Amino acid sequence: MDREFYVDHEFEFDVVNSNSSRFLHWCIGQDDLFMHFNSRRVVEECEINGKRIPAGTNIGISPLYLGRRVELFSEPNSFKPERFDVVTSAEKLNPYAYIPFSAGPRNCIGQKFAMLEIKAIVANVLRHYHIDFVGDTTEPPVLIAELILRTKDPLLFKLQDRVY
Ligand code: HEM
Repeated sequence: MDREFYVDHEFEFDVVNSNSSRFLHWCIGQDDLFMHFNSRRVVEECEINGKRIPAGTNIGISPLYLGRRVELFSEPNSFKPERFDVVTSAEKLNPYAYIPFSAGPRNCIGQKFAMLEIKAIVANVLRHYHIDFVGDTTEPPVLIAELILRTKDPLLFKLQDRVY
């Protein structure tokens, strides 16, 4: 799967063939270093899960926390990109479980473009370099919640030219 990115030096990533990179797409989905929090103000009183929510309430929604709920994602802390396979995975049944680009009428209008951009960059880096993590593997990275989620310390990688 996605074999062409890694073995064919001549392969050019473009808008047309970007859809063939399904595994890469799932891997990006698995990465949640996206926006970890967004919010909405309730304009009209409503009820959610049996709770009365008065008008004027601010509601915080955390895509990061949703992605860690076992009732939505099995083994949420495991790297399982194939969970994002819409064809075979049952985990994406709820369209509001995975919302790094938010959801509803005010969701991200740049979602498709952003995914294409990330895929183009990752595909080209992987095509040219073999990458090894050379940072500390004894401790999990400390996460810092700013506008986006990032690690407190840099993650260290070694890049070597791929030999074809
Ligand atoms: C990985 C990259 C990106 C992520 C994770 C992301 C995430 C989001 C999220 C979560 C929202 C909704 C915020 C909310 O509900 O309060 C949003 C809105 C928005 N995004 Fe993105 N975004 C990304 C890239 C982009 C790009 C590349 C563009 C433009 C080319 C863009 C344009 C917008 C715009 C215009 C809105 C506001 C939509 C509205 O309010 O109706 N985003 N984005």
